[in-house]
Amino acid sequence: MKTVLIIGGSHGISKCLADRLQSSGIQTLTASRTASSHCNGAQHQIFDAANPTALNLPDQLDGIVYAPGSITLKPFHRLSEEDMLTEFKLNALGAAQVIQQCLPALKKSPAASVVLFSTVAVQTGLPFHASIAMAKGAIEGLTRSLAAELSPSIRVNAIAPSLTDTPLAENLINSDAKRQASADRHPLKTIGEADDIAALAQFLVSDESKFITGQIIHADGGMGDVRTF
Ligand SMILES: NC(=O)c1ccc[n+]([C@@H]2O[C@H](COP(=O)([O-])OP(=O)(O)OC[C@H]3O[C@@H](n4cnc5c(N)ncnc54)[C@H](OP(=O)(O)O)[C@@H]3O)[C@@H](O)[C@H]2O)c1
Repeated sequence: MKTVLIIGGSHGISKCLADRLQSSGIQTLTASRTASSHCNGAQHQIFDAANPTALNLPDQLDGIVYAPGSITLKPFHRLSEEDMLTEFKLNALGAAQVIQQCLPALKKSPAASVVLFSTVAVQTGLPFHASIAMAKGAIEGLTRSLAAELSPSIRVNAIAPSLTDTPLAENLINSDAKRQASADRHPLKTIGEADDIAALAQFLVSDESKFITGQIIHADGGMGDVRTF
């Protein structure tokens, strides 16, 4: 049986993913800041990726998914050093440190997969996104570097979602007007659902994607590449 560790799993995209993996018979370990009864049978441990401590890891891991993220939207002139470092630490450095911790266990798997999260705001310039675009840009660099360094036994890919209906995005979609305006900005005229993104993460963690590594996969309703005029 495969074993996959999700950093997250208590809500949002990573909870949908934990549910999907559990249902498909994968041993699912989750780790996040809150004690979780939400994770549908997954083994959960308390872990803060912004101040990482030693994870309780099995001997062999076949996949890890790093889901913590933030959205600090501010005009560039108002971004403090602390804003930028905090966002970098959680989104990028935390991912690198978790992968370092998990490397010995990943190396024991015949075919391991690492899944990271970027954002549409790296490929597409969006106002007020400088801090998160810098942090997630680092994730895209990490994805390609590690895909090269850890091949052929460990694949590394990232998902770059656009706005998705999760607790993280709540402030951006907390009224019908905001939700509609956000949907209208996407060629597919909708924002993402957490399970849309979880389905892609499940594919990337599985052997179904065994010929894919070093990719940033855009799940963004067409926002990054498509113009409808
Ligand atoms: N939702 C969007 O619109 C959107 C758009 C672009 C990119 N993304 C990216 O997609 C990924 C998943 O987003 P989401 O919307 O599902 O986020 P979310 O609803 O905030 O869920 C994040 C998960 O990570 C855990 N987490 C957060 N901070 C953590 C920390 N310091 N240490 C350990 N665990 C932590 C949370 O659990 P606890 O609260 O229990 O710690 C939760 O289970 C993120 O990397 C995000 O940047 C999301």
